[in-house]
Amino acid sequence: MEEQTVVLIVGAGPAGLATAACLTQLSIPYIIVEREDCSASLWRNRAYDRLKLHLAKEFCELPYMSYPADAPTYVPKDLFVKYLDNYIECFDIRPKKCWFSTARNMATSMVVTYTARFLVVASGENSAENIPMIPGLHGFPGEIIHSSRYKSGSTYSGKNVLVVGCGNSGMEIAYDLASHGANTSIVIRSPVHVMTKEIIRLGMTLVQHIPVNIVDGLLVRMSNFVFGDLSKNGIVRPKLGPLLLKAKTGRSAVIDVGTVSLIRNGTIKVLGNISKIKGNIVEFESRNERTFDAIVFATGYRSTANMWLKNGESMLNRDGLPKKEFPNHWKGANGLYCAGLAKRGLAGLAMDAKNIANDIFCNYHE
Ligand SMILES: Cc1cc2nc3c(=O)[nH]c(=O)nc-3n(C[C@H](O)[C@H](O)[C@H](O)COP(=O)(O)OP(=O)(O)OC[C@H]3O[C@@H](n4cnc5c(N)ncnc54)[C@H](O)[C@@H]3O)c2cc1C
Ligand SMILES: *[C@@H]1O[C@H](CO)[C@@H](O)[C@H](O)[C@H]1NC(C)=O
Ligand SMILES: *[C@@H]1O[C@H](CO)[C@@H](O)[C@H](O)[C@H]1NC(C)=O
Ligand SMILES: *[C@@H]1O[C@H](CO)[C@@H](O)[C@H](O)[C@H]1NC(C)=O
Repeated sequence: MEEQTVVLIVGAGPAGLATAACLTQLSIPYIIVEREDCSASLWRNRAYDRLKLHLAKEFCELPYMSYPADAPTYVPKDLFVKYLDNYIECFDIRPKKCWFSTARNMATSMVVTYTARFLVVASGENSAENIPMIPGLHGFPGEIIHSSRYKSGSTYSGKNVLVVGCGNSGMEIAYDLASHGANTSIVIRSPVHVMTKEIIRLGMTLVQHIPVNIVDGLLVRMSNFVFGDLSKNGIVRPKLGPLLLKAKTGRSAVIDVGTVSLIRNGTIKVLGNISKIKGNIVEFESRNERTFDAIVFATGYRSTANMWLKNGESMLNRDGLPKKEFPNHWKGANGLYCAGLAKRGLAGLAMDAKNIANDIFCNYHE
């Protein structure tokens, strides 16, 4: 079977939905395909219960729709899903179920070939779980889960749990585990900026008017004032400031949800890099050994676009991420585009969607 359209969008997460809305505003026909049964599967099925948007709502809007005035500044997961459902209804977006590695329509089990002049890759930076290879991991007898399958600490009460990874997910999951009575440890391998959400919000606002290095200096001083020196607790700040680090490497500052005070008073134990695992014993590079019942890997995700996109070399590298640097990352050759792959969150993907739709509009009417 063959279907024709002008634009094919792969992925119905926020990036795909935003692109669909922008195309609709310009009256450009499109088809949007999604491998799962629902849109925004990351937010519906692969996020922990207590998750809220990390950034203030004014930095998390999709094109052409604001949050209700009475929405909290930091939007909880369920409310964000409602916002997306409204968005889908408002722009009449109808994703088709189709996994783009096999190009197979799973509902009918038929192979569908889509022919389109333009292709938008919107399959996300979070398409596949990233779990590091650790010697002996496969022999670990306890539970091993990735942060995307973690819901709540309620089933871990009284257990010894190790969280690997100190980004926003790892730090929050450690807090959640500890507050549900799990004996919680966290592996912190690399320097990290710990801040409050209010400090980040201030920084994101100021940087629109003031040079980033000055804002970064201010944010670090404010955070040091709030948290004090955490190096004796195993938390060291990177050399680059938080906003510059995000822009250059995509690594976000960690917004503290209460984890730091639990680390300070010893409720959550900080451990260094793992060297190997023997049975249920985890050995660390410091030569310490500890026994665990479960390990949660909050070690991030991978893009998979390079695995299904043929001839995408003009745009994506071997990690499935854009070759060109921001702000030129979103356009490849021959009608190929990507939305949401520049590690710039919802605000970044909203910008990608607008740029892509405008560019298609120009070429479409040529
Ligand atoms: C826990 C967490 C919290 C975050 N919090 C914030 C925040 O507060 N603020 C912010 O700005 N950003 C945040 N982000 C970052 C980012 O905004 C989100 O990850 C956002 O969901 C990215 O949207 P996306 O559409 O690019 O990708 P996704 O949401 O991952 O959507 C991609 C979609 O494509 C589908 N898909 C993948 N491969 C295929 C294929 N081959 N064929 C068909 N469909 C496919 C997937 O099933 C998925 O539905 C957060 C990320 C995570 C993981
Ligand atoms: C809690 O975890 C730490 C670190 O792994 C361990 O040293 C300690 O013995 C554990 N406590 C209990 C009660 O199991
Ligand atoms: C650590 O701090 C938390 C909250 O600040 C508190 O609930 C907990 O009882 C404290 N634990 C210890 C061992 O002091
Ligand atoms: C941590 O240990 C792993 C092996 O378990 C190794 O591959 C990695 O390079 C180490 N990372 C750091 C920062 O030391």
